[in-house]
Amino acid sequence: MENLQTVKQRFGIIGNDVQLSRALEKAVRVSPTDISVLVTGESGVGKESIPKIIHQLSHRKHAKYIAVNCGAIPEGTIDSELFGHEKGAFTGASACLLYTSDAADE
Ligand SMILES: Nc1ncnc2c1ncn2[C@@H]1O[C@H](COP(=O)(O)OP(=O)(O)OP(=O)(O)O)[C@@H](O)[C@H]1O
Ligand SMILES: [Mg+2]
Repeated sequence: MENLQTVKQRFGIIGNDVQLSRALEKAVRVSPTDISVLVTGESGVGKESIPKIIHQLSHRKHAKYIAVNCGAIPEGTIDSELFGHEKGAFTGASACLLYTSDAADE
């Protein structure tokens, strides 16, 4: 398992706060697994670093890292946006669409 200082150095994370260290430790621990992770915290605390670290330390590190701004996707279309849809699945679905999950698997 990666040492905490090494992780901080490698990913440019600054600070020795206990909660920060705990979050990084958890990121390192879950990275070899397929567990889904929800990162919460105040604005600007560096939440976006956590999924990047998990990705880089995971077996998926050679696949693309794709960040999706779910807040910008209209309600009801998130599943289609993430997983794609078949032609005719809903009004306006004029073609079969392969999307984010497929891109991330490549
Ligand atoms: N501990 C830290 N060490 C180094 N850089 C940090 C740290 N915490 C935050 N940053 C930097 O601060 C900036 C804001 O972080 P980030 O975008 O991850 O915030 P966030 O938690 O996702 O906020 P929001 O909820 O507003 O999206 C980024 O450039 C990030 O690299
Ligand atoms: Mg953010």
